[in-house]
Order: sequence, then structure tokens, then C-alpha cells
Amino acid sequence: MSNEEIASNTAARQYLARFTPEQLVAWRTAPLDRPLPAAARGIDLPMPFGWFVIGYSDELKVGEVKPLRYFDRELALWRGEDGVPRLLDAYCRHLGAHMGYAGRVKGNDLECPFHAWQYNGAGEVTKIPYAKVIPPQARRNCVQTWPVVERNRFIWAWYHPQGAAPTFEVEGLPEASSPDWSDYEKHEWLVYGPLQNMAENGVDAAHFRYIHGTASNADYDVKFEGIRRVASVDAKMTTPRGDVDGTISYGTVGAGQAWTRFTGICETLMVAGITPVAPDITHVRFAFTQLKSTLDGPTAGVARAMVKDICRQLDQDKVVWDRQKYRPDALLCDGDGPIAAFRQYYRQFYAELPQGDGTPVVNRNFARRAT
Ligand code: FES
Ligand SMILES: [Fe+2]
Repeated sequence: MSNEEIASNTAARQYLARFTPEQLVAWRTAPLDRPLPAAARGIDLPMPFGWFVIGYSDELKVGEVKPLRYFDRELALWRGEDGVPRLLDAYCRHLGAHMGYAGRVKGNDLECPFHAWQYNGAGEVTKIPYAKVIPPQARRNCVQTWPVVERNRFIWAWYHPQGAAPTFEVEGLPEASSPDWSDYEKHEWLVYGPLQNMAENGVDAAHFRYIHGTASNADYDVKFEGIRRVASVDAKMTTPRGDVDGTISYGTVGAGQAWTRFTGICETLMVAGITPVAPDITHVRFAFTQLKSTLDGPTAGVARAMVKDICRQLDQDKVVWDRQKYRPDALLCDGDGPIAAFRQYYRQFYAELPQGDGTPVVNRNFARRAT
């Protein structure tokens, strides 16, 4: 089969052809039809710790409260009058109301809708309007708190299963705070699989041809550097102005932050937020920003096509990821790419590792590294 035939005939492409453009967008976040429990798919991977996107900065106004479900928890996120976002476990310590629904912002604090107890960002009750005394237990941190930062036009929360403090930072991307770059074009997916599977895709050399229809297997050098993974590839693209030499570079920090930078062709930055909803459900956001000066004129069409193509690749992978079984003992062949090295690298993001019999043990490797 020629490369052109492979490109137009990949199984995933044919599978997705059943959808109209509107149906495709709905499919990206729809519940899974006939889902299997995680155990039946061999998914015994815990959720990795780290910084994870929990929302876009411009989607949380001052005084706004939002219910969220991430990290297998119900959460309440709000932005105080000082402009700072704060995140607590959603359930009130009093009688258990979910504060993400109908909770209100009072000053910088969150007011529970049930009896109006107020919480600060440290999870302490600051006011009970009908009580003479706040119980001492409620004055201390009595609802779990989550470290939150705002960077690259996203709100991030630090998740660690044992509540350990952050061990690294979210990397700042200069384009995301530059007025010369466009507002984010936002796309999202729910992937019914663990984060590790998605991250592994980047080193799965053989799938590029058979799932995405690229002319040849990706030929780039992935470097694992501590908690970072970086790769860069020279690319030639056909534009209305002729062939242009460009570079596509790709980086990840921890388990939740990834980006792809396209330079030379049409300056584009794709910022990805990859967040666990549960051990077998992942919320993926792709936000694209482009150099405003390239958005009009001859490169505009190329820029649009590129965004569309990147989203299409995620769609193609999702077809497999949603149903994939996790194989800790994957049977690999030459030409598969550095999958074993990747899995070794990724282990550092687990605070506990599965033993194979369902009992997690502390990842001593991490404990050493973090101190
Ligand atoms: S349940 Fe929250 S104030 Fe009573
Ligand atoms: Fe892929």
C-alpha cells in the first residue's frame, strides 16, 4: 500500500468518518457506551501526583464558584474578591452539603449554601452566622485544601495522594502571557483511560503510521531529563508560499503539563492540560495560541489546518484509548520505540505503585528523589 493510501485508509480515520462535524465534537466528551470497570481492563495504575489543569483563568470570574470532579474527588473552586482562585474538597464539614452547588463567595471566602458557614482557602471556618462560638475543630483546617496556581492562562491544582507539598513548579510559557499572541482556541476530550497510556503515545513510534497515517514512523529523539521529557523534529510544510522549513518541539513537565511549539511554519503553541478525573478517566484540554501577525494573510489557512489536524490526531488516538486494556507486560518488538524506557521514566510520578495483587506500596524511588 502506498503512503497516500495508508494516510487516507487508517482504521481510526474510517471509524471516525461516521460522524458529522457536530457529532464528532459531542463524541469527544460523551459518556462511554458499555464501559467496563477499570479492573476488567487491567487498569491498576494509580493517579500520578503533580500539577494539573482544573480550568481556564478566563472561565472563573471574581465571585464565581464552580463544582469540579478531579482526582476521584468532588471539589469546589472559587475566585475571591482579591482575584485569587482557591480550591477545597466540596463537602462541608458541618452536615456535608456540596459547596460547589449554590455555594457563594463572601469576600475571599466560600459560603456553604446549607447553613452559611464560611471557609477560607486554608479550609478553616471563619464565620458561622448563627453561632456564638465557632467550634475549635472548625477553626483549624477541617476540609482538605489543594495548592492552586494560575499560569499560562490556566488554573492548576497540585494533587498528591498523601497530601505532600509540591516538589516542582508549572513551567511558564512566554507566548501564553504575550499580547502578540491570540486568545486560546479551546478543545476538550474525555479519554476513558489512564494518563500514562496517553503519555506513552508520544514514544509509540509505530502507531503514527497506522493510526494517524503519517508517511513514515516519527523520527525524533525523545530525551528524558528528570521530570521533563523533550523532543524536537525538523519539519517541512507546504504552504501557499511554497515549502517552508520549520521545527516542531514538544515538552512535558510532570504528568499534567505538555506543550507543542511550531516554529518557522506558522508560529503556533499548543498547550495541553491532562488531568485525572478518576484512575481510568482523563480530561484533556488542548489550547492553541498563534502569533497574531500570522493569522491574516497567506499563512492563515495553514494555521487553521494545523489546529484541525492536531485535534484529529487526538480523536484517532481516543478511538483506541477508550477501550484499551493496560498491559504491564506488553509484548514488544523492534520498531516499537522506547516504550520500556518511557514506563520506567513515568514511574517517578507515582507515590505508590501497584504490586500486581492490588496492594500499593510506597515508591521509594520517589521518596528519595523528592527529598
Ligand atoms: S452543611 Fe454546610 S453549613 Fe451546614
Ligand atoms: Fe497518537
